[in-house]
Amino acid sequence: MLPNANAPQSKPEAGVLFVGIDLGTSHTAIAASNGNRCSIDSIVAYPRDVISQKALGKDKLFGAEAWRHKHACDVYRPMQKGDVKYAELDGALNRDPARQQQAVRDLMQHVLQLAKPRPDDLVYAVIGAPAQASIHSQKALLDAARGVLDCVMICSEPFAVAYGLQFLTDTLVIDIGAGTTDLCRMHGSLPAPEDQITVSAAGDAVDRKLFELLKAAYPEASFTVNMVKGFKEKFAALAKVDEPVRVTLPVRGVPREFDITAQVRQAVESIVPEIVGSLHQLIGDYDPEFQAAMRNNVLLAGGGSQIIGLDKAIERKLNELGGGRVTRVQEPAFAGANGALHLAQDMPAEFWQQLDA
Ligand SMILES: Nc1ncnc2c1ncn2[C@@H]1O[C@H](COP(=O)(O)OP(=O)(O)OP(=O)(O)O)[C@@H](O)[C@H]1O
Ligand SMILES: [Mg+2]
Repeated sequence: MLPNANAPQSKPEAGVLFVGIDLGTSHTAIAASNGNRCSIDSIVAYPRDVISQKALGKDKLFGAEAWRHKHACDVYRPMQKGDVKYAELDGALNRDPARQQQAVRDLMQHVLQLAKPRPDDLVYAVIGAPAQASIHSQKALLDAARGVLDCVMICSEPFAVAYGLQFLTDTLVIDIGAGTTDLCRMHGSLPAPEDQITVSAAGDAVDRKLFELLKAAYPEASFTVNMVKGFKEKFAALAKVDEPVRVTLPVRGVPREFDITAQVRQAVESIVPEIVGSLHQLIGDYDPEFQAAMRNNVLLAGGGSQIIGLDKAIERKLNELGGGRVTRVQEPAFAGANGALHLAQDMPAEFWQQLDA
């Protein structure tokens, strides 16, 4: 985030809608200066032929509705990133990579409409991107935003979370998303590349692991990776659970109950070592005078922060390395978008990039 050659002369005070957009692999959230906010699954679907178009009565579907009609549509999860490709596990997804860029643009346009801008509003948007988004993906985001947004700034997702909660000094943010976990050290100024680590130990990796473990344990059962994601969201826990986790899966069309307690636990545990390793690395490289403060200021964000007991599991690991305290953000679905909105309202003109239509 540096002063920009294409910056507007000044930032307008009226006739402008500021928005923060968290454009995630799994969910997209928007928070706007007119008080509107919403969150949807990052899924876009286009009816596959004239029949499906007639039946559905529209040419684009979004979020949960898009997924419901996946058999009648070409379905995109356009923000896919990280090492785990959902498309490999569900053949219905992302059939035509050339249309992914269009799907990103349509998704942005859709969430912007959900924020209800007035027709004549200029839209200034801060978009949260992964901590180490490559130049290529930043360019792809800007290209997708052209014609949808007027002025844009891209910032790292964990930075947006910390900014929104005013955790700006000696804080370490761990944002456990779907495609990636982004870790970012905050020291009172804009984070530099060496303050950030992105790893693929995140929600999609848990889904993939659980999918594979269940396939190995119960080869007779039929299920999709999306069903497995649902089991994880309902049952993922690192704390001791009293009740065994039982789910119903079809076996050659007949529903049967399976105990998946051990598999859920093993899948969730599989992402912890890499996250803690990166956390340790970022703390260990920091100024030794302030390491203790940072250790006690670990902020856990993103959908994956809802894994029951994950905060305590990370604290236990930190204790082996000198102690620490982990706090979970209150609203994981909106923490990134809220922070991005605060940034949009605070950042002066020179940091913005004006987009030509
Ligand atoms: N209750 C829950 N328990 C465990 N995991 C959950 C829960 N709710 C959501 N998740 C997982 O959190 C992940 C989504 O998190 P989030 O919405 O922060 O990701 P994202 O911002 O879309 O992804 P990314 O930041 O990687 O682009 C998904 O893998 C989802 O399955
Ligand atoms: Mg995210």
